[in-house]
Amino acid sequence: MLFEDFREYIEKCREIDQVKDIEGADWNLEIGAITEVMATTKPDAHPLLLFDKIKGYPKGYRVASNFMNTARRTAVVMGMPLDVPKMELIKHWKERVKSYKGIPPREVSDGPVMENTDKGDKVDLFKFPVPKWHELDGGRYLGTACMVITPDPDTGWVNLGVYRLQVHNKNTMGLYISPGHHGWIIGRKWWAQGKSCPIAVTFGQEPAVWVGATYGVPYGISEYDWTGWARGKPVDVIKGPVTGLPIPATAEIVVEGEVPPPDKEGEIEGPFGEWPGYYAHGALREPIVKVNSVMYRNDPVIAGAPPLKPTSFYSHGIPFGAAQIWDQLDACGVQDIRGVWTYYCSTSGGGGLPFIVISLKQRYPGHAKQALLVTAGARAGAYLGRYVVVVDEDIDPTDIREVMWAVASRSDPATSVDIIRDTWSTFLDPRIPPEKRAKGDLTNSRALVNACRPFDWIKDFPPVNSISPGLKKQTIDKWGNSLGLT
Ligand SMILES: Cc1cc2nc3c(=O)[nH]c(=O)nc-3n(C[C@H](O)[C@H](O)[C@H](O)COP(=O)(O)O)c2cc1C
Repeated sequence: MLFEDFREYIEKCREIDQVKDIEGADWNLEIGAITEVMATTKPDAHPLLLFDKIKGYPKGYRVASNFMNTARRTAVVMGMPLDVPKMELIKHWKERVKSYKGIPPREVSDGPVMENTDKGDKVDLFKFPVPKWHELDGGRYLGTACMVITPDPDTGWVNLGVYRLQVHNKNTMGLYISPGHHGWIIGRKWWAQGKSCPIAVTFGQEPAVWVGATYGVPYGISEYDWTGWARGKPVDVIKGPVTGLPIPATAEIVVEGEVPPPDKEGEIEGPFGEWPGYYAHGALREPIVKVNSVMYRNDPVIAGAPPLKPTSFYSHGIPFGAAQIWDQLDACGVQDIRGVWTYYCSTSGGGGLPFIVISLKQRYPGHAKQALLVTAGARAGAYLGRYVVVVDEDIDPTDIREVMWAVASRSDPATSVDIIRDTWSTFLDPRIPPEKRAKGDLTNSRALVNACRPFDWIKDFPPVNSISPGLKKQTIDKWGNSLGLT
């Protein structure tokens, strides 16, 4: 579905889904606590939360959380079928991305984001009801569902990424970007020239462009073009008055400024409750954003997606990373994939997928191993992975009980598991030991688990002790009524 802005999307959710209006909550832990309680109580069917009259703030200065973390709401944003089985959504998306053809953004001269501007001494980020989300957080985080816009100094290509931002004081924020993410590479290119990196950040934006920013689009491809394709209509952008960067014209709040070389200027950022379920980064010196200007709409709505301990989804209700992995397996010629699913994951490929399951119909010796290797190595599955499991086609990857039954019964630990070392991870990985972390070695390892029946004696593998479809039907036809099944 096509939305012009974040608030139109919220109103649509009122019509076709659920929105809960909450007045009088405190930015200090209460908004975060309500967000977590609601998301975890009914993971698949909780309402979008819209907080207003936040303690100490004027009416109209709002925060929206749990805004896309059910499959239904994510499907609404991305124009996907509603209320269909999970794997159908993944298949739908991986087929759709094959038709990718970027639609560039359209520059406009004006937009609602320009309704108000504060510059220089007038900048005060605490003007907005910035939540402290989790109990052990080191401060208040304006950037959780934000969108960071930075240009590559060599090519001018503009990247969008979702990277967290802590408000340090009225015009400075701390920025955390994991090594290898595109904003991290861009920052280092500017700093190598001794220059500050220009930056704009939106807090509250049309949700499809936000999905683009989280998606792990390859370096050099514009997330604006990607979103234009996904929406079937270009994203309208204004030219940022301070940085010249393209900024969504309908964003709720946007800051413009610069990120100086962190060896000269940086500050302690964190701790922050992170998506793997811990505070692993802790408090470390990180780059800062010096804010020169803030533009915001009347009655702005901050978008919030504070990470929650798995197994709750905290940002997208559909793990797009599964579709990205499937697409990459197709591209590498790994055939007969029947399904891909990811557990305990961030959101999308490149965002961290620690437990990936692929089901396939084995066709030849080595087929299952090929799927494991491609998954662990291709971009979508490469970052903060841990386990990649391949199962036969009779196992449903979306059902973890089935998956673990296959692991428990079809794999032989001595021969079915390969360990790959020195793989891409991040400060957010709770299992990197302190001494390794201190050296800046942010690598971990992968277990590639072949939980398929061994291909060379598959015909001799014992049959599954489970009722046949024929006997099941016969039984339900005859007994279903008296057993209360029909
Ligand atoms: C809600 C949310 C918060 C995120 N926070 C961060 C973060 O603080 N730092 C980071 O490096 N990646 C974070 N990510 C992951 C990146 O946004 C994601 O991997 C994105 O594809 C990176 O874009 P890039 O490939 O252009 O760097 C977050 C993702 C989501 C959905």
